[in-house]
Amino acid sequence: MTTEAETPTLRVRRSGALRGSCQVPGDKSISHRALLFGALCDGPVQASGLGQGGDNLSTAAALRALGVDIRLDGGEARIEGVGFAGLAAPSRTLDCGNSGTSIRLLMGLVAGRPFETELAGDASLTRRPMRRVADPLRKMGATVDGRSEPSRPGDIFPPLRVRGGSLAGIRYDLPVASAQLKSALVLAGLQARGRTELREPARSRDHTERMLRFLGAPIAADDATGALIVDPDGWNGRLKAGRIVVPGDLSSATFLLIAAATVAGSDVTVENVGLNPTRSGALDVLLAMGAELQITQTGDAMGEPVGRIRARASRLRGTEVRGELALRAIDEVPALAVAAALAEGDTVFGDLAELRVKESDRIVAVARELRRAGVTVEERPDGFVVSGLAGRAPAGGTVRPDHDHRIAMAGAILGLASEDETIVPAADIATSFPSFATTLAALGAPIA
Ligand code: S3P
Repeated sequence: MTTEAETPTLRVRRSGALRGSCQVPGDKSISHRALLFGALCDGPVQASGLGQGGDNLSTAAALRALGVDIRLDGGEARIEGVGFAGLAAPSRTLDCGNSGTSIRLLMGLVAGRPFETELAGDASLTRRPMRRVADPLRKMGATVDGRSEPSRPGDIFPPLRVRGGSLAGIRYDLPVASAQLKSALVLAGLQARGRTELREPARSRDHTERMLRFLGAPIAADDATGALIVDPDGWNGRLKAGRIVVPGDLSSATFLLIAAATVAGSDVTVENVGLNPTRSGALDVLLAMGAELQITQTGDAMGEPVGRIRARASRLRGTEVRGELALRAIDEVPALAVAAALAEGDTVFGDLAELRVKESDRIVAVARELRRAGVTVEERPDGFVVSGLAGRAPAGGTVRPDHDHRIAMAGAILGLASEDETIVPAADIATSFPSFATTLAALGAPIA
Protein backbone atom coordinates (compact mmCIF):
# COMPACT_ATOMS: atom_id res chain seq x y z
CA MET A 1 0.00 0.00 0.00
CA THR A 2 1.27 3.47 -0.87
CA THR A 3 1.41 5.87 2.03
CA GLU A 4 1.10 9.64 1.81
CA ALA A 5 4.87 10.05 2.16
CA GLU A 6 5.60 7.66 -0.71
CA THR A 7 3.20 9.27 -3.19
CA PRO A 8 5.17 10.05 -6.35
CA THR A 9 5.41 13.78 -6.95
CA LEU A 10 6.30 15.78 -10.06
CA ARG A 11 8.10 19.10 -9.78
CA VAL A 12 7.46 21.32 -12.77
CA ARG A 13 9.25 24.59 -13.61
CA ARG A 14 8.89 27.20 -16.34
CA SER A 15 9.79 25.60 -19.63
CA GLY A 16 11.90 26.66 -22.57
CA ALA A 17 10.89 25.51 -26.05
CA LEU A 18 9.68 21.91 -26.35
CA ARG A 19 10.98 20.16 -29.44
CA GLY A 20 10.96 16.75 -31.01
CA SER A 21 8.76 13.92 -32.00
CA CYS A 22 7.19 11.37 -29.66
CA GLN A 23 4.65 8.61 -29.29
CA VAL A 24 1.90 8.25 -26.72
CA PRO A 25 0.59 5.06 -25.10
CA GLY A 26 -2.14 3.06 -26.79
CA ASP A 27 -5.60 4.58 -26.76
CA LYS A 28 -7.23 3.79 -23.42
CA SER A 29 -10.79 3.52 -24.79
CA ILE A 30 -9.75 1.29 -27.69
CA SER A 31 -7.48 -0.84 -25.48
CA HIS A 32 -10.41 -1.70 -23.18
CA ARG A 33 -12.32 -2.86 -26.23
CA ALA A 34 -9.34 -4.78 -27.63
CA LEU A 35 -9.11 -6.77 -24.39
CA LEU A 36 -12.85 -7.31 -23.97
CA PHE A 37 -13.65 -8.13 -27.57
CA GLY A 38 -10.46 -10.17 -27.90
CA ALA A 39 -11.79 -12.34 -25.07
CA LEU A 40 -15.01 -12.80 -27.09
CA CYS A 41 -13.17 -14.04 -30.16
CA ASP A 42 -13.22 -17.55 -31.42
CA GLY A 43 -9.62 -18.45 -30.53
CA PRO A 44 -6.32 -16.72 -29.87
CA VAL A 45 -5.89 -13.00 -30.52
CA GLN A 46 -2.67 -11.02 -30.66
CA ALA A 47 -3.23 -7.40 -29.63
CA SER A 48 -0.57 -4.72 -30.02
CA GLY A 49 -0.20 -1.07 -29.09
CA LEU A 50 -2.27 -1.53 -25.93
CA GLY A 51 -2.35 1.12 -23.24
CA GLN A 52 -0.60 -0.01 -20.07
CA GLY A 53 -2.28 2.37 -17.66
CA GLY A 54 -4.13 1.24 -14.57
CA ASP A 55 -7.55 1.40 -16.22
CA ASN A 56 -6.63 -1.04 -18.97
CA LEU A 57 -4.96 -3.34 -16.45
CA SER A 58 -8.24 -3.37 -14.52
CA THR A 59 -10.09 -4.65 -17.59
CA ALA A 60 -7.44 -7.34 -18.16
CA ALA A 61 -7.62 -8.45 -14.52
CA ALA A 62 -11.43 -8.60 -14.60
CA LEU A 63 -11.36 -10.75 -17.72
CA ARG A 64 -8.87 -13.10 -16.07
CA ALA A 65 -11.29 -13.42 -13.16
CA LEU A 66 -13.89 -14.49 -15.76
CA GLY A 67 -11.57 -17.29 -16.83
CA VAL A 68 -9.88 -15.66 -19.83
CA ASP A 69 -6.17 -16.31 -20.27
CA ILE A 70 -4.45 -13.00 -21.08
CA ARG A 71 -0.69 -12.69 -21.24
CA LEU A 72 0.48 -9.07 -21.26
CA ASP A 73 3.96 -8.08 -22.33
CA GLY A 74 4.27 -4.31 -22.48
CA GLY A 75 1.80 -3.11 -25.10
CA GLU A 76 1.40 -6.62 -26.54
CA ALA A 77 -1.13 -9.15 -25.36
CA ARG A 78 -1.99 -12.69 -26.24
CA ILE A 79 -5.64 -13.23 -25.44
CA GLU A 80 -7.14 -16.71 -25.60
CA GLY A 81 -10.59 -15.81 -26.90
CA VAL A 82 -13.33 -17.99 -25.43
CA GLY A 83 -16.46 -16.37 -26.87
CA PHE A 84 -19.40 -15.23 -24.74
CA ALA A 85 -20.27 -18.82 -23.84
CA GLY A 86 -16.76 -19.59 -22.61
CA LEU A 87 -16.76 -16.99 -19.82
CA ALA A 88 -16.68 -18.62 -16.38
CA ALA A 89 -18.48 -17.57 -13.21
CA PRO A 90 -15.97 -15.39 -11.34
CA SER A 91 -14.53 -16.64 -8.08
CA ARG A 92 -13.83 -13.09 -6.89
CA THR A 93 -15.20 -9.56 -7.13
CA LEU A 94 -14.15 -7.86 -10.36
CA ASP A 95 -12.05 -4.91 -9.18
CA CYS A 96 -12.41 -2.17 -11.81
CA GLY A 97 -10.09 0.24 -9.98
CA ASN A 98 -10.60 3.79 -11.24
CA SER A 99 -12.15 2.75 -14.53
CA GLY A 100 -15.70 3.71 -15.50
CA THR A 101 -15.27 2.10 -18.90
CA SER A 102 -14.28 -1.23 -17.33
CA ILE A 103 -17.19 -1.42 -14.93
CA ARG A 104 -19.87 -0.27 -17.38
CA LEU A 105 -18.79 -2.45 -20.30
CA LEU A 106 -18.37 -5.44 -18.00
CA MET A 107 -21.90 -4.90 -16.65
CA GLY A 108 -23.25 -5.34 -20.18
CA LEU A 109 -21.04 -8.34 -20.79
CA VAL A 110 -21.94 -10.29 -17.67
CA ALA A 111 -25.64 -9.34 -17.90
CA GLY A 112 -25.98 -12.05 -20.54
CA ARG A 113 -24.16 -14.78 -18.65
CA PRO A 114 -25.93 -17.33 -16.45
CA PHE A 115 -24.09 -16.46 -13.25
CA GLU A 116 -23.68 -13.75 -10.64
CA THR A 117 -20.90 -11.18 -10.80
CA GLU A 118 -19.81 -8.59 -8.26
CA LEU A 119 -18.12 -5.47 -9.56
CA ALA A 120 -16.35 -2.85 -7.45
CA GLY A 121 -13.76 -0.10 -7.72
CA ASP A 122 -11.75 2.57 -5.93
CA ALA A 123 -13.12 5.53 -3.97
CA SER A 124 -13.65 7.60 -7.14
CA LEU A 125 -15.43 4.84 -9.09
CA THR A 126 -17.57 4.04 -6.04
CA ARG A 127 -19.13 7.51 -6.36
CA ARG A 128 -20.00 7.24 -10.07
CA PRO A 129 -23.63 6.73 -11.16
CA MET A 130 -24.60 3.32 -12.56
CA ARG A 131 -28.37 3.49 -12.87
CA ARG A 132 -27.98 4.64 -16.47
CA VAL A 133 -26.61 1.14 -17.25
CA ALA A 134 -28.65 -0.82 -14.71
CA ASP A 135 -32.05 0.43 -15.96
CA PRO A 136 -31.85 -0.83 -19.56
CA LEU A 137 -30.09 -4.05 -18.50
CA ARG A 138 -33.00 -4.71 -16.11
CA LYS A 139 -35.42 -4.07 -18.98
CA MET A 140 -33.55 -6.70 -20.98
CA GLY A 141 -33.93 -9.23 -18.16
CA ALA A 142 -30.85 -8.96 -15.94
CA THR A 143 -30.94 -8.32 -12.21
CA VAL A 144 -28.68 -5.48 -11.12
CA ASP A 145 -28.26 -4.31 -7.52
CA GLY A 146 -25.99 -1.64 -6.17
CA ARG A 147 -25.26 0.59 -3.24
CA SER A 148 -27.56 3.53 -2.71
CA GLU A 149 -26.57 6.95 -1.43
CA PRO A 150 -29.11 8.94 0.59
CA SER A 151 -27.79 12.19 -0.91
CA ARG A 152 -28.35 10.97 -4.49
CA PRO A 153 -31.69 9.13 -4.33
CA GLY A 154 -32.77 6.95 -7.24
CA ASP A 155 -29.29 6.15 -8.50
CA ILE A 156 -27.06 3.18 -7.68
CA PHE A 157 -23.32 3.05 -7.14
CA PRO A 158 -20.63 0.35 -6.91
CA PRO A 159 -20.19 -2.19 -5.49
CA LEU A 160 -22.68 -3.78 -7.89
CA ARG A 161 -24.09 -7.26 -8.23
CA VAL A 162 -25.29 -8.45 -11.64
CA ARG A 163 -27.27 -11.68 -12.01
CA GLY A 164 -27.23 -12.38 -15.69
CA GLY A 165 -29.25 -14.74 -17.77
CA SER A 166 -31.57 -14.91 -20.68
CA LEU A 167 -31.94 -11.43 -22.20
CA ALA A 168 -34.41 -10.00 -24.69
CA GLY A 169 -33.52 -7.21 -27.12
CA ILE A 170 -34.94 -3.72 -26.52
CA ARG A 171 -35.60 -0.46 -28.29
CA TYR A 172 -34.02 2.14 -26.10
CA ASP A 173 -33.46 5.87 -26.14
CA LEU A 174 -30.31 6.53 -24.13
CA PRO A 175 -30.88 9.36 -21.61
CA VAL A 176 -27.26 10.53 -22.05
CA ALA A 177 -24.86 10.36 -24.99
CA SER A 178 -22.46 7.89 -23.45
CA ALA A 179 -20.20 5.43 -25.24
CA GLN A 180 -19.84 3.44 -22.04
CA LEU A 181 -23.61 2.98 -21.78
CA LYS A 182 -24.02 2.34 -25.50
CA SER A 183 -21.22 -0.25 -25.45
CA ALA A 184 -22.68 -2.04 -22.43
CA LEU A 185 -26.01 -2.34 -24.23
CA VAL A 186 -24.36 -3.56 -27.43
CA LEU A 187 -22.60 -6.31 -25.45
CA ALA A 188 -25.88 -7.27 -23.79
CA GLY A 189 -27.72 -7.02 -27.13
CA LEU A 190 -25.31 -9.42 -28.80
CA GLN A 191 -26.32 -12.02 -26.20
CA ALA A 192 -30.06 -11.33 -26.35
CA ARG A 193 -32.97 -12.87 -28.21
CA GLY A 194 -34.18 -10.52 -30.92
CA ARG A 195 -32.86 -7.20 -32.02
CA THR A 196 -31.73 -4.26 -29.94
CA GLU A 197 -32.16 -0.75 -31.26
CA LEU A 198 -30.30 2.09 -29.55
CA ARG A 199 -30.78 5.80 -30.06
CA GLU A 200 -28.50 8.41 -28.50
CA PRO A 201 -29.34 12.09 -27.93
CA ALA A 202 -26.02 12.87 -29.68
CA ARG A 203 -23.36 10.66 -31.16
CA SER A 204 -20.82 9.48 -28.61
CA ARG A 205 -17.47 7.93 -29.56
CA ASP A 206 -17.94 4.91 -31.79
CA HIS A 207 -14.90 2.71 -31.05
CA THR A 208 -17.16 -0.20 -30.07
CA GLU A 209 -19.07 -0.15 -33.33
CA ARG A 210 -15.91 0.12 -35.42
CA MET A 211 -14.05 -2.72 -33.73
CA LEU A 212 -17.01 -5.07 -33.39
CA ARG A 213 -17.95 -4.62 -37.01
CA PHE A 214 -14.34 -5.32 -37.96
CA LEU A 215 -14.50 -8.54 -35.93
CA GLY A 216 -17.70 -9.62 -37.67
CA ALA A 217 -20.39 -8.81 -35.11
CA PRO A 218 -23.95 -8.23 -36.41
CA ILE A 219 -24.24 -4.53 -35.69
CA ALA A 220 -25.16 -1.78 -38.11
CA ALA A 221 -26.31 1.81 -38.18
CA ASP A 222 -29.79 2.56 -39.48
CA ASP A 223 -29.02 5.47 -41.81
CA ALA A 224 -32.61 6.70 -41.83
CA THR A 225 -33.04 6.98 -38.05
CA GLY A 226 -29.43 7.10 -36.85
CA ALA A 227 -30.20 4.18 -34.52
CA LEU A 228 -27.64 1.51 -33.81
CA ILE A 229 -29.02 -1.96 -34.55
CA VAL A 230 -27.72 -5.12 -32.89
CA ASP A 231 -29.31 -8.16 -34.49
CA PRO A 232 -27.81 -11.46 -33.33
CA ASP A 233 -30.54 -13.73 -34.79
CA GLY A 234 -28.86 -16.17 -37.12
CA TRP A 235 -25.37 -15.21 -35.96
CA ASN A 236 -23.08 -17.95 -34.65
CA GLY A 237 -22.09 -15.82 -31.66
CA ARG A 238 -18.40 -15.72 -32.51
CA LEU A 239 -16.05 -12.86 -33.26
CA LYS A 240 -13.26 -13.50 -35.75
CA ALA A 241 -9.95 -14.17 -34.03
CA GLY A 242 -6.81 -12.57 -35.39
CA ARG A 243 -4.81 -9.43 -34.81
CA ILE A 244 -5.97 -6.28 -33.06
CA VAL A 245 -3.95 -3.07 -33.43
CA VAL A 246 -4.51 -0.09 -31.12
CA PRO A 247 -3.48 3.43 -32.16
CA GLY A 248 -1.94 6.01 -29.81
CA ASP A 249 -4.20 7.88 -27.41
CA LEU A 250 -5.38 11.27 -28.64
CA SER A 251 -6.42 12.17 -25.08
CA SER A 252 -2.84 11.71 -23.89
CA ALA A 253 -1.48 13.45 -26.99
CA THR A 254 -3.65 16.50 -26.26
CA PHE A 255 -1.61 17.34 -23.14
CA LEU A 256 1.59 17.36 -25.22
CA LEU A 257 0.00 19.35 -28.05
CA ILE A 258 -1.25 21.99 -25.62
CA ALA A 259 2.14 22.15 -23.93
CA ALA A 260 3.68 22.75 -27.39
CA ALA A 261 1.05 25.32 -28.34
CA THR A 262 1.55 27.32 -25.13
CA VAL A 263 5.33 27.20 -24.54
CA ALA A 264 7.14 29.79 -26.72
CA GLY A 265 9.30 28.42 -29.52
CA SER A 266 7.93 24.85 -29.30
CA ASP A 267 7.56 22.46 -32.22
CA VAL A 268 6.36 18.96 -31.28
CA THR A 269 5.08 16.07 -33.39
CA VAL A 270 3.07 13.19 -31.95
CA GLU A 271 3.20 10.09 -34.16
CA ASN A 272 0.74 7.22 -34.59
CA VAL A 273 -2.21 8.75 -32.83
CA GLY A 274 -5.91 7.91 -33.28
CA LEU A 275 -7.89 10.54 -35.19
CA ASN A 276 -11.42 9.14 -34.87
CA PRO A 277 -13.72 12.13 -35.56
CA THR A 278 -16.11 11.16 -32.74
CA ARG A 279 -13.16 11.70 -30.38
CA SER A 280 -11.16 14.53 -31.96
CA GLY A 281 -13.11 17.59 -30.85
CA ALA A 282 -10.07 18.85 -28.94
CA LEU A 283 -8.21 19.33 -32.21
CA ASP A 284 -11.09 21.40 -33.58
CA VAL A 285 -11.17 23.48 -30.40
CA LEU A 286 -7.42 24.13 -30.60
CA LEU A 287 -7.68 25.09 -34.28
CA ALA A 288 -10.51 27.49 -33.42
CA MET A 289 -8.25 29.00 -30.74
CA GLY A 290 -5.62 29.69 -33.40
CA ALA A 291 -3.26 26.81 -32.60
CA GLU A 292 -0.90 25.89 -35.42
CA LEU A 293 -1.64 22.21 -35.86
CA GLN A 294 -0.77 20.04 -38.82
CA ILE A 295 -2.86 16.87 -38.83
CA THR A 296 -1.91 14.15 -41.31
CA GLN A 297 -3.71 10.84 -41.58
CA THR A 298 -1.15 8.15 -42.31
CA GLY A 299 -3.23 4.99 -42.09
CA ASP A 300 -6.02 3.03 -40.57
CA ALA A 301 -6.13 0.52 -37.71
CA MET A 302 -9.19 -1.73 -37.72
CA GLY A 303 -11.44 1.01 -39.00
CA GLU A 304 -9.83 3.73 -36.83
CA PRO A 305 -8.04 6.56 -38.68
CA VAL A 306 -4.46 7.06 -37.47
CA GLY A 307 -1.95 9.82 -38.12
CA ARG A 308 0.55 12.36 -36.91
CA ILE A 309 -0.07 15.75 -35.37
CA ARG A 310 2.47 18.56 -35.31
CA ALA A 311 1.90 21.47 -32.95
CA ARG A 312 3.85 24.71 -32.87
CA ALA A 313 3.76 27.49 -30.32
CA SER A 314 0.92 29.80 -31.23
CA ARG A 315 -0.97 32.80 -29.94
CA LEU A 316 -4.21 31.36 -28.62
CA ARG A 317 -7.53 33.19 -28.32
CA GLY A 318 -10.73 32.29 -26.51
CA THR A 319 -13.50 30.27 -28.14
CA GLU A 320 -16.77 28.44 -27.37
CA VAL A 321 -16.91 24.72 -26.63
CA ARG A 322 -20.51 23.51 -26.62
CA GLY A 323 -22.91 20.98 -28.11
CA GLU A 324 -21.52 18.18 -30.25
CA LEU A 325 -18.05 19.77 -30.12
CA ALA A 326 -18.13 19.55 -26.31
CA LEU A 327 -19.15 15.87 -26.50
CA ARG A 328 -16.31 15.10 -28.93
CA ALA A 329 -13.83 16.84 -26.61
CA ILE A 330 -15.21 15.78 -23.23
CA ASP A 331 -12.14 13.97 -21.91
CA GLU A 332 -9.85 16.75 -23.09
CA VAL A 333 -11.62 19.56 -21.23
CA PRO A 334 -9.11 19.67 -18.33
CA ALA A 335 -6.29 20.07 -20.89
CA LEU A 336 -8.26 22.54 -23.01
CA ALA A 337 -8.97 24.59 -19.88
CA VAL A 338 -5.19 25.10 -19.59
CA ALA A 339 -5.07 26.32 -23.20
CA ALA A 340 -7.96 28.66 -22.36
CA ALA A 341 -6.16 29.91 -19.23
CA LEU A 342 -3.10 30.86 -21.29
CA ALA A 343 -5.10 32.39 -24.18
CA GLU A 344 -6.34 35.91 -24.82
CA GLY A 345 -10.02 36.45 -24.07
CA ASP A 346 -12.72 34.24 -22.62
CA THR A 347 -13.40 30.59 -23.42
CA VAL A 348 -16.88 29.26 -22.70
CA PHE A 349 -17.23 25.56 -21.91
CA GLY A 350 -20.91 24.48 -21.90
CA ASP A 351 -23.19 21.44 -22.32
CA LEU A 352 -20.71 19.56 -20.15
CA ALA A 353 -22.76 18.52 -17.11
CA GLU A 354 -21.35 14.99 -17.56
CA LEU A 355 -18.01 16.36 -16.34
CA ARG A 356 -19.50 16.34 -12.85
CA VAL A 357 -19.60 12.53 -12.84
CA LYS A 358 -16.21 11.70 -14.36
CA GLU A 359 -13.21 10.46 -12.31
CA SER A 360 -13.77 13.62 -10.25
CA ASP A 361 -16.25 16.49 -10.53
CA ARG A 362 -14.10 18.02 -13.22
CA ILE A 363 -15.98 21.32 -13.22
CA VAL A 364 -15.15 21.84 -9.55
CA ALA A 365 -11.60 20.52 -9.91
CA VAL A 366 -10.68 22.55 -13.01
CA ALA A 367 -12.16 25.75 -11.57
CA ARG A 368 -10.29 25.26 -8.29
CA GLU A 369 -6.96 24.49 -9.96
CA LEU A 370 -7.15 27.41 -12.39
CA ARG A 371 -8.09 29.80 -9.57
CA ARG A 372 -5.13 28.55 -7.54
CA ALA A 373 -2.98 29.63 -10.47
CA GLY A 374 -4.55 33.10 -10.49
CA VAL A 375 -6.96 32.56 -13.41
CA THR A 376 -10.50 33.97 -13.26
CA VAL A 377 -13.08 31.19 -13.72
CA GLU A 378 -16.86 31.42 -13.57
CA GLU A 379 -18.36 28.07 -12.67
CA ARG A 380 -21.72 27.11 -14.25
CA PRO A 381 -23.94 24.06 -13.75
CA ASP A 382 -22.85 22.60 -17.11
CA GLY A 383 -19.35 24.03 -17.50
CA PHE A 384 -17.30 27.14 -16.84
CA VAL A 385 -15.93 30.30 -18.41
CA VAL A 386 -12.18 30.85 -18.31
CA SER A 387 -10.73 34.35 -18.67
CA GLY A 388 -7.35 33.92 -20.32
CA LEU A 389 -4.21 35.34 -18.71
CA ALA A 390 -3.20 36.83 -22.09
CA GLY A 391 0.53 36.63 -21.57
CA ARG A 392 0.62 36.92 -17.77
CA ALA A 393 2.21 33.91 -16.08
CA PRO A 394 0.07 31.63 -13.90
CA ALA A 395 1.07 31.11 -10.28
CA GLY A 396 2.63 27.82 -9.22
CA GLY A 397 1.78 25.87 -6.08
CA THR A 398 0.54 22.41 -5.28
CA VAL A 399 -2.06 20.74 -7.50
CA ARG A 400 -4.91 18.78 -5.88
CA PRO A 401 -5.80 16.08 -8.41
CA ASP A 402 -8.83 14.56 -6.60
CA HIS A 403 -7.68 11.07 -7.72
CA ASP A 404 -8.13 12.20 -11.32
CA HIS A 405 -5.31 11.57 -13.79
CA ARG A 406 -6.39 14.31 -16.14
CA ILE A 407 -6.56 16.98 -13.42
CA ALA A 408 -3.02 16.05 -12.39
CA MET A 409 -1.68 16.26 -15.96
CA ALA A 410 -3.51 19.53 -16.64
CA GLY A 411 -1.90 21.00 -13.51
CA ALA A 412 1.54 19.94 -14.75
CA ILE A 413 1.04 21.49 -18.20
CA LEU A 414 -0.10 24.76 -16.65
CA GLY A 415 3.01 24.68 -14.47
CA LEU A 416 5.23 24.83 -17.59
CA ALA A 417 4.12 28.46 -18.00
CA SER A 418 4.60 29.49 -14.37
CA GLU A 419 7.53 31.45 -12.92
CA ASP A 420 7.12 29.44 -9.70
CA GLU A 421 7.47 25.76 -9.07
CA THR A 422 4.36 23.58 -9.45
CA ILE A 423 4.11 20.42 -7.41
CA VAL A 424 1.90 17.64 -8.75
CA PRO A 425 0.99 14.52 -6.73
CA ALA A 426 1.43 12.11 -9.61
CA ALA A 427 0.13 8.71 -8.47
CA ASP A 428 -3.09 9.02 -10.49
CA ILE A 429 -1.35 9.84 -13.79
CA ALA A 430 -0.59 6.13 -14.27
CA THR A 431 -4.31 5.56 -14.79
CA SER A 432 -3.90 6.54 -18.44
CA PHE A 433 -0.40 7.89 -19.21
CA PRO A 434 2.33 6.29 -17.08
CA SER A 435 5.07 7.78 -19.33
CA PHE A 436 3.67 11.35 -19.16
CA ALA A 437 6.59 12.92 -17.29
CA THR A 438 9.35 11.07 -19.17
CA THR A 439 7.77 11.94 -22.53
CA LEU A 440 7.54 15.63 -21.63
CA ALA A 441 11.07 15.62 -20.21
CA ALA A 442 12.40 14.05 -23.45
CA LEU A 443 10.85 16.99 -25.34
CA GLY A 444 12.82 19.34 -23.07
CA ALA A 445 10.36 20.15 -20.28
CA PRO A 446 11.85 20.79 -16.81
CA ILE A 447 9.75 18.16 -15.10
CA ALA A 448 11.20 15.76 -12.59
C1 S3P B 1 -15.31 6.32 -22.69
C2 S3P B 1 -16.44 7.06 -22.86
C3 S3P B 1 -16.62 8.39 -22.25
C4 S3P B 1 -15.30 8.98 -21.82
C5 S3P B 1 -14.48 7.98 -21.05
C6 S3P B 1 -14.16 6.79 -21.92
C7 S3P B 1 -15.23 4.99 -23.34
O1 S3P B 1 -17.44 8.28 -21.12
O2 S3P B 1 -15.50 10.13 -21.08
O3 S3P B 1 -13.28 8.56 -20.61
O4 S3P B 1 -14.14 4.42 -23.44
O5 S3P B 1 -16.27 4.50 -23.77
P1 S3P B 1 -19.05 8.23 -21.23
O6 S3P B 1 -19.37 7.04 -22.02
O7 S3P B 1 -19.56 8.09 -19.83
O8 S3P B 1 -19.48 9.48 -21.86
